[in-house]
Amino acid sequence: MGKNILLGITGGIAAYKTAAAASALTKQGHNVFTVMTESACEFISPLTFQSLTGNPVEVDMFSPPDRFEVKHISLADRADITLVAPATGNFIGKLAGGIADDLLSTIIMATRSKVLIAPAMNVNMYEDVSFQRNLSILKERGYQIIEPESGYLACGYEGTGRMPEAEMLVKSILSHLTISDLDGLKFLVTAGPTREPLDPVRFMSNYSSGRMGYALADRAAARGAEVTLISGPTALKPPAGVRLIRVEQAREMQEAVLEEFADKQVIIMAAAVADYRPADYHEEKIKKQENNLKQISLKQNPDILTAVREAKAKEQILVGFAAESGRILEKARDKYQRKAPDILVVNDISRSDRGFAAETNAGFIFTGEEELELTLRSKTKFAEAVLDEIKDWL
Ligand code: CTP
Repeated sequence: MGKNILLGITGGIAAYKTAAAASALTKQGHNVFTVMTESACEFISPLTFQSLTGNPVEVDMFSPPDRFEVKHISLADRADITLVAPATGNFIGKLAGGIADDLLSTIIMATRSKVLIAPAMNVNMYEDVSFQRNLSILKERGYQIIEPESGYLACGYEGTGRMPEAEMLVKSILSHLTISDLDGLKFLVTAGPTREPLDPVRFMSNYSSGRMGYALADRAAARGAEVTLISGPTALKPPAGVRLIRVEQAREMQEAVLEEFADKQVIIMAAAVADYRPADYHEEKIKKQENNLKQISLKQNPDILTAVREAKAKEQILVGFAAESGRILEKARDKYQRKAPDILVVNDISRSDRGFAAETNAGFIFTGEEELELTLRSKTKFAEAVLDEIKDWL
């Protein structure tokens, strides 16, 4: 169901990004209300937001309302969430000092919704001591700050102060809107490949990007869970609010998992653990030889999922992942029996748009009672569906 989102715009050139965010949120079915300061109107027209959101835009505190209501209070009460983007140094100073001298600052003072603030300004202003003090006051009071990025600034400077793109603003709003239905639960998630060294410069690994496990950790944390993520080497940014333990080899992953799993209600093993490692590690780099290198002997790695299944308590939920190619349902049914996790998520890696290094995923969830098909979707949405299934199981 669509939410009421209040967008506050203050005077900054980054306002065009907020317009793109307003459009995206409206297309997703949310009801977006915009309030602009007078300076904001120097950068972008209220008509832009009115056209993109389909709602009237408010600027003036005292313009007569359509029907009798105290405007700043009705807008403040209506908001499920509020975003001020861009937020100028002056506006942040006003909030920190409790000054409410226009419609937007009055609304922010009156609203009980969560308020996200996206500062945007010149790098020297951003680093100014009074500004930083004001920003930390807002953080202490529970405002959520969408941190500015570093890069080229419209004023010609390079540095911190650039507001993130529309996509990021939308993501922040949505993650703060989600319900906390996993509140109080502890999750352990494994992700990424493992790396099995052969000599100081070479290793065996696989194409796992870690995206699926990171998406699960990210969404579980957004829904209120306390998440520990044990990750093999990936190029991904750690998800916000997640405790990250980095490992390389399968045996290190096993050690970390066995140390961590006991107090977790949900254990999700999305890592693509290498089944084998080179039997001998060469302390020195293997030199090129005259002919072909005849043989590298491999040794089997421990099966982490099986070790956890054998050691876990009955009420702990164990979720396995299976990557299969060809006759996937048949192989998956067999794996579900053989490895016996509580839930098994299966994906078909023979197609480039799902599983492994892809951005999207499709597959099946086996719960013992049902085989649920998940059609092709982003890994974030796929993760949400897996979490819904875990939630039902709980
Ligand atoms: N897994 C594990 N330890 C291993 C291998 C796999 O914990 N050494 C886990 C994976 O994290 C995943 C599940 O087991 O959750 C299934 O992984 P997969 O590689 O598909 O299964 P295997 O048992 O290795 O079967 P096969 O490679 O023969 O398909």
